[in-house]
Amino acid sequence: MDVYEAVTSRRAVRGFTDEPVSREVLERVLSAAAWAPSGSNIQPWNTYVMTGAPLAELKTTAVERVAHGDPWDKRQYKMYPSELKSPYAERRSAFGKERYSALGIAREDWEARQRAAIANWNCFGAPAALFCYIDCDLGRPQWADVGMYLQSIMLLLRAEGLHSCTQMAWSQVRETVAEALSPPDGLILFCGMSIGYEDPAVSSPRTGRAPLTETVTFVGD
Ligand SMILES: Cc1cc2nc3c(=O)[nH]c(=O)nc-3n(C[C@H](O)[C@H](O)[C@H](O)COP(=O)(O)O)c2cc1C
Repeated sequence: MDVYEAVTSRRAVRGFTDEPVSREVLERVLSAAAWAPSGSNIQPWNTYVMTGAPLAELKTTAVERVAHGDPWDKRQYKMYPSELKSPYAERRSAFGKERYSALGIAREDWEARQRAAIANWNCFGAPAALFCYIDCDLGRPQWADVGMYLQSIMLLLRAEGLHSCTQMAWSQVRETVAEALSPPDGLILFCGMSIGYEDPAVSSPRTGRAPLTETVTFVGD
């Protein structure tokens, strides 16, 4: 698979089969992704990979917790600014509309939206997941490094015929994740990522993108 195909075929997949992902494939992907760049090569990512019984147990605990309506864990970072300004607010709302209409859920059907959201903590059925932590002492440039690393993982997964969904949703139940993983003190859970083979029966439609003229300025010839 060439790089363009990997980039354009990656999308957030929210329905996976239960076909296991081998440890060998995961190690190959994570070893290659470690070549992602980072300022001064500090490689600020701390990754935990879960499969099998431990992941099944975490999913059950997290889904039960969310279904029960427990409050979210104290935030370690803000997912979005409280007031998302234009054009981000419009893009976010377009995404919400696309997502829920693809699922046949009406905007005002809060319960159905909640049910769809709960699938996050079941990893959308994926048999593998990773959890990516970053040291709380590190700053914005290092968070950007982690983003590049995560995108490298997602593209390499495509080369292996796998799909993924990155999920900040896991940060909302970070203490439940920490009980399962026991990360050292001082790490912030940035996100989880569900990994597996796409279930074609579940719709994971392509999202749109702003035209190049909205996001890129060319200066010169
Ligand atoms: C950092 C990050 C966090 C995300 N968190 C979630 C999440 O918690 N749940 C979810 O269903 N999708 C999540 N997504 C997926 C985005 O909604 C998705 O990437 C975006 O809508 C663009 O669609 P695409 O990935 O299919 O191109 C996340 C993506 C990123 C990059």
